[in-house]
Amino acid sequence: MIKNIHSKPVAALILGTVMTVFGTLALAAEDPIVIKFAHVVAENTPKGKMAEKFKALVAEKLGDQVVVEVYPNSQLFGDDKVLEAMLLGDVQMAAPALSKFSRYTDVLALYDLPFLFEDLDAVDRFQQSDEGQTMLLSMQDKGLIGLGYLHNGMKQLSASTPLRVPADADGLKFRIMASDVLEAQFKAVDATPVKKPFSEVFTLLQTKAIDGQENTWSNIYSKKFFEVQPYITESNHGLLDYMVVTSDEFWSGLPDDVREPVKAALDEALAYGNQIARDKAIEDKQKIAESGRCEIIELTPEERAQWVEVMKPVWDEFQEDIGVELIEAAYAANQTD
Ligand code: LMR
Repeated sequence: MIKNIHSKPVAALILGTVMTVFGTLALAAEDPIVIKFAHVVAENTPKGKMAEKFKALVAEKLGDQVVVEVYPNSQLFGDDKVLEAMLLGDVQMAAPALSKFSRYTDVLALYDLPFLFEDLDAVDRFQQSDEGQTMLLSMQDKGLIGLGYLHNGMKQLSASTPLRVPADADGLKFRIMASDVLEAQFKAVDATPVKKPFSEVFTLLQTKAIDGQENTWSNIYSKKFFEVQPYITESNHGLLDYMVVTSDEFWSGLPDDVREPVKAALDEALAYGNQIARDKAIEDKQKIAESGRCEIIELTPEERAQWVEVMKPVWDEFQEDIGVELIEAAYAANQTD
């Protein structure tokens, strides 16, 4: 009797389990591959627009097979957590600034060296060279693969007081990305660098917990930093570019007939984003100027030369970690002939 009472539920349980397993398998066959793409900037930026373009191109090429979900504005992960999350499989793609990989590799610090590149054309020449392409794989031993570079542009200095010469920055607190080169750069002008995630910058500036920061025109505009910083110095002293990364595990686990069209979609989206970066550097500067909220300071050649003189020696501190030959190759990309 007892046996009978128990055998029914057990049979039902087994049947139920078998059905659930088959149900899950059937569902899995239809389930799309989801690529969560997390980033920290606004949607109306080179990175935000590139990510949306990528999503649309993947949908066009792969239909329901692959779905890209874009999470802007640090919604899913801030820039201090996203790479760890990627290695855990909680996010599949991101495009952190090249300054944010220092826990994984030394060589990408190259891109933070002040006054290394004269313009984005020089950056393009270097990134497309063998050296630049090899750097995409510099974190493979840590489980991360670089799929391509994306521009944002040259950084400007914003502050609560006018910055014309390096002595004007003496004693001021600047928010920086988590990079030792950027730390050394601000120490070189006797300022105090403070490493903070991007999501905190507006509030830090608004509450005057910090005096200034460095960023591109599109970030200063889209995150409204110009509303809480009365002065922006057009210094073009450094580069803010990105690397689109994924985890080796995720990428190598994709079937070839998915990985290839996803990569093609990304390449096309990056070309689109790079053009937006160039356009926005002009348009967003213009919008900031027209807002009347802050003064844009243009440096004379003599004033700019002072910043170069004080900041460029920072290169020496990092040349061993980055590699002298790599620095020379990047600097040589400024020559067109
Ligand atoms: C920053 O932290 O200032 C930038 O890296 C934000 C970004 O991704 O452009």
